Amino acid sequence: MLLTNILLLLIVTSVPTNSLIPEDARLNFTELSMKYGHNAEEHRVTTEDGYILTLFRIPGKKPPVLLLHGLNDCSDTFIIRGNSSLAITLANKGYDTWAGNTRGNKYARQHTKLNPDTDLSFWDHSFHEHGYYDLPAIIDYILNVTGHKTIKSIGNSEGTTDHFVLGSLRPEYNEKIQLLIAMGPSAFFKHLTPQLSSLMAMGPLLDQVARPFKIEELFREGSTEKKFFAAICNRNALFCRDLLFQVGGHDPKRLEREFLPVLFGHFPTSGSRKGFIHYSQLGLRMRFALFDYGAADNIKRYGHTEPPDYNLTQCTMKTAFFVGKNDLVCDVKDVEYLRAVLPNVVLYHLMEPKTWNHYDFVWGNDMPKTLYPHVFKLLEKF
Ligand SMILES: *[C@@H]1O[C@H](CO)[C@@H](O)[C@H](O)[C@H]1NC(C)=O
Ligand SMILES: *[C@@H]1O[C@H](CO)[C@@H](O)[C@H](O)[C@H]1NC(C)=O
Ligand SMILES: *[C@@H]1O[C@H](CO)[C@@H](O)[C@H](O)[C@H]1NC(C)=O
Ligand SMILES: *[C@@H]1O[C@H](CO)[C@@H](O)[C@H](O)[C@H]1NC(C)=O
Repeated sequence: MLLTNILLLLIVTSVPTNSLIPEDARLNFTELSMKYGHNAEEHRVTTEDGYILTLFRIPGKKPPVLLLHGLNDCSDTFIIRGNSSLAITLANKGYDTWAGNTRGNKYARQHTKLNPDTDLSFWDHSFHEHGYYDLPAIIDYILNVTGHKTIKSIGNSEGTTDHFVLGSLRPEYNEKIQLLIAMGPSAFFKHLTPQLSSLMAMGPLLDQVARPFKIEELFREGSTEKKFFAAICNRNALFCRDLLFQVGGHDPKRLEREFLPVLFGHFPTSGSRKGFIHYSQLGLRMRFALFDYGAADNIKRYGHTEPPDYNLTQCTMKTAFFVGKNDLVCDVKDVEYLRAVLPNVVLYHLMEPKTWNHYDFVWGNDMPKTLYPHVFKLLEKF
């Protein structure tokens, strides 16, 4: 371990820092918002179990819309496209725009009692806790500040999973979400590509390797693996883009080379190992279920050797699906299954461009033409 670290560090430090990295790669949400014409506010939300989450707001006169990011991602994902980004476009149209962060990412790495650097239990979470604790705290906070009774919410990838968990386990929140726009709806992983299948199969292995070394956090800011990743991606962005495409679908036209330094300045951000493991369990067990702790611990926690499924029949919020034909993470067949299980799907929109992949919902360069008109039509209608 030490040796690998030293090796990685050597490689990292031997790569010259690229002075051509654009400014947007370094700016945080508030700074990007300012640069593209809007003052943003920073709010801190404390969950009932003590996590402190940064919530960004670009105030507007229209009703509140919440944006929720995906795995190892953060609120920045909705603003790094600048004038073409969803956050700025919402703000330009006058929506009260809120961008949330779930526990563990760089804007939500804080707790009233636990220290993320020394308390391993800080990292004991996955999308389950994001949906069960973070999302309701964020929603209640927004409702309290704005005086509204409901919000509209836009989730991307894990951001949709968080909503499905919330709607299933705390059904009273279905009433507070007037509409969920689910971009890349993620719950079932029965149809896996060989690449995704291998990635998910790595879950148990990663668990075995990382546990003895107490590695609970992945991609911590300033960590060796993060620096390593950044150094490689700054130097050979196309290689990193290709890694992403292997997982989520090939679409170089919408994720052009010039944008990559900005993207890799913000993605990936920190997250828990457990968050990845839980997803890998969804794939390996082919069920949308709570975390599998192994038979003995499952009995203690759930009273059963198997973890229970999330009961999606309870998730009654109005949900609009946006689906990519070339989204290899959210296979169309899996999304159709989810659509059949959820009781209140009000729209199923298959993105027209055939190459639309898992990332194009937040990073695609033609979102203003291909995606936003549909989104704004929905926001007006519901
Ligand atoms: C974003 O950057 C501004 C300006 O440097 C700083 O004041 C602010 O604290 C930063 N916000 C966060 C959440 O890091
Ligand atoms: C963003 O768009 C606004 C309005 O069209 C324009 O004034 C501004 O220059 C653009 N900002 C950047 C940084 O491109
Ligand atoms: C709502 O806001 C008020 C005033 O800022 C605050 O005192 C109260 O604790 C908040 N309630 C909740 C549930 O956040
Ligand atoms: C799931 O929720 C529905 C609606 O509340 C209920 O009728 C059903 O029994 C639940 N299923 C399970 C397996 O608990």
